[in-house]
Amino acid sequence: MSADAILEVADAVKDFDGLRAVDGASFHVERGSITALIGPNGAGKTTMFDLLSGFARLNTGTIRFAGRSIGGMAPHRIARLGLVRTFQLTRVLAGMSVMDNMLLAAPSQPGEHLPSLILGPRRARAAEARSRADAQALLETFGLRDKARDYAGALSGGQRKLLEIARALMTQPSLVLLDEPMAGVNPTLGRAILDHIAALREQRGTTFLFVEHDMDVVMSRADRVIVMAQGRVISAGTPAQVRADPAVVEAYLGSASPETTA
Ligand SMILES: Nc1ncnc2c1ncn2[C@@H]1O[C@H](COP(=O)(O)OP(=O)(O)OP(=O)(O)O)[C@@H](O)[C@H]1O
Ligand SMILES: [Mg+2]
Repeated sequence: MSADAILEVADAVKDFDGLRAVDGASFHVERGSITALIGPNGAGKTTMFDLLSGFARLNTGTIRFAGRSIGGMAPHRIARLGLVRTFQLTRVLAGMSVMDNMLLAAPSQPGEHLPSLILGPRRARAAEARSRADAQALLETFGLRDKARDYAGALSGGQRKLLEIARALMTQPSLVLLDEPMAGVNPTLGRAILDHIAALREQRGTTFLFVEHDMDVVMSRADRVIVMAQGRVISAGTPAQVRADPAVVEAYLGSASPETTA
C-alpha cells in the first residue's frame, strides 16, 4: 500500500441476494489526487461508493480512510470523518430553497436547539453566520449565487448536480466521491464542474474520486485511474498506463465501449 493513501480498500466483497456486485476489490486512492473510477455498466462502481460512504455494508474485506477502519460505520459518522459522496441520481431537497439545502449540510445546523444550548445563543448565531458565508462562497463558486432563494426543485438538472456537489463541500471534506458528476449536464457546465474540482484540489488539498464514462474526460483530468469490471479492480495507474493495459481493452469489448477514439 502506498504511504500517502487517504483511502485503502482490501478484498471488498458485496453480495445482493445471489449476485456478487463487488467481488474481492482492492485499490487505494492517493491523498490530494483526482482519481477516476471507470468500468463498464454494472461493474460495481456505484456499489463501491455505497460501501465507502456507509450506504451499504461489506460482506467481507476492509476499508481504511485516513488510517481508520470505516467498514460498517454509518454514513453520518463517515461524513464527519471527512468522506462525503454525491449520488448518480441527484438527491437535492426540491421543496427547500437552494440556501437551505446548503445550510442543512453545515456542521451545526441553524434552527436546531442543540447548538444554542451548547454554545449559547450568541455563539450559535455566529456559527450560523459562518455557515451562511461558507454557503454563499460555494454557491458563488458554482455559479448558483443568484439562485440561493429559489426552490431547489426549480433548478435545471445540471444546476441540481452543481448544488449537490456544492452541498457536499460544506463540511470541508478531505475526500469527495462523485458518482457521474457530469451525466446529464451540458458540456459547458460539465467543464465548469471539472474546473471547480481542480481548483478545490489546489486550494484545499481536497482528494476527489469520481466515476465517469467519458474517456476523454478521464484521460485529460485524472491523475490516476482505477478500472473495475465484474466487481473486481482489473487495472490501476496513470491514464496512459491504464489505456495501454490489454485487460482494460478486453473488459470493454462486448460491453459498452469507452466513449472515445483514443
Ligand atoms: N441494491 C441492489 N440490489 C440488487 N442488485 C444490485 C443492487 N445494486 C446494484 N446491484 C447490481 O450490482 C451490480 C453492480 O451495479 P452497480 O450499480 O454498482 O454498477 P455500476 O458500475 O455503478 O454501473 P453503471 O455504470 O451502470 O452505473 C449490477 O449487476 C447491479 O444490477
Ligand atoms: Mg453506477
